[in-house]
Formats: sequence, structure tokens, C-alpha cells
Amino acid sequence: MEEEKELTRIGVSLPSNLLNKFDSIIRGRGYSSRSEGIRDAIRAYIIEYEWMERESGEEIGTITYLYDHSQRGLGDQLTEVQHQYLNMIKTSTHIHLDEENCFEVIVMKGDAKQIKELAGRIMSLKGVKHVKLTTTHGGI
Ligand code: NI
Repeated sequence: MEEEKELTRIGVSLPSNLLNKFDSIIRGRGYSSRSEGIRDAIRAYIIEYEWMERESGEEIGTITYLYDHSQRGLGDQLTEVQHQYLNMIKTSTHIHLDEENCFEVIVMKGDAKQIKELAGRIMSLKGVKHVKLTTTHGGI
């Protein structure tokens, strides 16, 4: 990462519950100030985004997500989307978590761009929460 020199002050509006959670995490991790915690969070966000953009070629990976199964039509939409990526989906697991939530893991092997595309499509469905994508190359 390039050297960071000048500091610029910004004002950000946040929901108080989000800020409370953030503060409690950075306190627990021993940060000296909220600003330092925010700087680290922004760096991590940038690194993750740049890494996602760079990936290409054959990869293996997982998509995990929670979703609200009472959301109308969502189960069907998730099935529909997955059937469009048959060539790269190797297996999937469904866990009924509680009254409201289901948890799914999809394991994939295929083109990095297609893997990201599928994750993006799942993420954009209403009622899907906490989507996580992990990928790796087989030959490292
Ligand atoms: Ni379920």
C-alpha cells in the first residue's frame, strides 16, 4: 500500500447501534482511538475489494449466506439461480437455523468471474443476509 501522509477530517453519519457495536469491538481489540479503528476498517475494505477485482482463472470457493425463508418467493429464486450455474456448483448444504432463518453453503469450482457473478446474484436477492465469499486457487 502506498504511504499515507496527510490526514483529512471527515464527518460521517451512522446509526447509533452500528457505532455502538463498532466501538465495543475496537475497545475489545485494544485500539487507542475510534479514528484508528475506522482507518483499519477502511483499509481492510479496500484490500478485500481490490482482491476480489483481481481474481481470475480457475478457482475453488464457497458462498455462505443466511436467508429469511418466510420471504415470499426467495427459496424458489435461490434454487433458480443455482440451477443456472450447474457446471460449477459441486455441492450445497442447507441448515434450518431457527424459526426464521436458513443457512446455506455452496461449494464451487470454476471460473473466478462466474463464481463472483453467482455470489453477486445471491447477494442482491431480497431477504438474503450476511453473504460471504471465499475463494482460493488449487495449485498454490
Ligand atoms: Ni431451512
